[in-house]
This record gives sequence, C-alpha cells and structure tokens, in this order.
Amino acid sequence: MIVIETIPDMAYLRNNLKEPVGFVPTMGFLHEGHMSLVKKARSENKTVVVSIYVNPTQFGPKEDLSKYPRDLPRDLAMLEKEGADVVFFPSDKEMYPDGYDTWVTVDNLTKPLEGDSRPTHFRGVTTIVNKLFNIVRPTNAYFGQKDAQQVLVVKKMAADLNMNLKVVVCPTIREPDGLAMSSRNVYLNPEQRKAAPVLNKSLLLAKELFIGGQRDAAVILKQMTSLIQKEPLADIDYISISDTATLAELKTISQSALISMAVRFGNTRLIDNILLG
Ligand code: PAF
Repeated sequence: MIVIETIPDMAYLRNNLKEPVGFVPTMGFLHEGHMSLVKKARSENKTVVVSIYVNPTQFGPKEDLSKYPRDLPRDLAMLEKEGADVVFFPSDKEMYPDGYDTWVTVDNLTKPLEGDSRPTHFRGVTTIVNKLFNIVRPTNAYFGQKDAQQVLVVKKMAADLNMNLKVVVCPTIREPDGLAMSSRNVYLNPEQRKAAPVLNKSLLLAKELFIGGQRDAAVILKQMTSLIQKEPLADIDYISISDTATLAELKTISQSALISMAVRFGNTRLIDNILLG
C-alpha cells in the first residue's frame, strides 16, 4: 500500500494505476461502515484508492473541526489489511493553497434537511469531492447511504457536470443495537450511547407503519417524534419524510420515501435515514 501526500505525486502515480480504479473518499477515523465501502471497491476494481482528509470547508463555524477524531496509524493498518492499494492523505495547504477561490455548488438539493441546519456544509462537500475526483480520476466512487442527502448531491453533481465516473451507494452499517456507524459516535458519553439507538428504532417504527399500510406522513412523523421524545437525552433537530429524488417534503407517501433525521445528544449531532418502498 502506498501513502501519497501531494497532488503531483498522486497525479504521477495515477497514470500507472490498473483500471478500473475504485475510490473511497473518507475523513479518516475509519470504522466498519468505511471498510464496507473499501471491500465493495476491492471486489469491483483492479485498484483501490482511499483518501483521508478532514475537509475544513464542510464544517460550520460552530462545528467540531478541531476535535474531529483522527488516528492515521490505525486507519492505515485497517486499509492495509483490507487490501487498499493507495492512500491519498493531503494537507490543508495542498488542497486549499493561499488564494484558493473556487467553489462547486449544487443548488436546490442542498437547501433542505442537512442544508437547512448546516448552510455551508454541502458547498464544502461538493468542492472537495470534485477536487478529489479530478485528482484521483476514479472509474467508480463509493459512498455510504447513511449520508443520504450527500449521496443524492454527489450523484447530481456528477451527472450535471458530466463527470466520467459511476457513483456507487453502499448500505448503512449498524452496531448490533442498531446505531448507525459514524466517526462521531465516539463523542457520546455512556448514557448518550445507550440512548442513541432510538434513531434506528424510530426508523423501524416508520417502516412497520408503512408496511402496515400507513401512507399519511404526518401520522408517521408524529409516532416517530413521540418515540424519540421518550428518550430525555435526545433533542430532535429535524425528522423528514421526503421524495427520494427531489427531497421535497411529502404529505402522502405513494410509492417510496426517504425518512431522514438529525438528533442531538448533548453536543453530538447524529443523522440516520431509511428508504421506504
Ligand atoms: O462523507 C464524508 O466522510 C465526507 O463528506 C467526504 C465525502 C469524505 C468529503 O469530505
């Protein structure tokens, strides 16, 4: 496994990589969710490139950039074991040199949900993902369904900007008690960690109601909200039932829907979602 820190080195190496090239962009502090993307990339490509870069431009001014968890030696050991070929680990100066002035924005899809709570987040995500795509030039790029809106936004950017790659979406990986795996789970204290599976429980309740024939979004939202509110440590940021393509809020679910949510436990904000239909 080769670790590359500069863009010129990555560009030079890229010309000699065996095709197809699978790419997994990450912010490090890897867990089984990331590793499932690496495994999938390994099974579908001749070369697997993983980036580790905590992208400052997708964090808001009051967010957790400086204390975002990092453990490079552990990440590298996990990637080596999983058979990654190349790790791209650039510095801030490499990605955003002095005078950096260009941004990539997906418009309407980034307004609701996470975009509403974190107004500059997706501009940072699409800009860095675009830059990484240009540097790594992957055939296939792997993202987790846990970040449902990110997946839609990256797919839209790739389609609208005619990017010559395929965006592959992999299922959310969960802890045995149902909590979706996330690097941010380490921030939870023991009581919060115990309470956090209520997100998944509420999503499973929604699924059960849907399977039982319930199609009224307000009824489903009400039951989910009251289940989460039984957990005193949980503070709901939003729960949404939206169209799976446009993210427009639905009153009635006809065929399918994305149910997504953000819930705070103290200072830690967790997201989760489920696709219905
Ligand atoms: O999902 C993430 O970890 C990040 O948003 C990504 C895609 C690596 C961009 O920084």
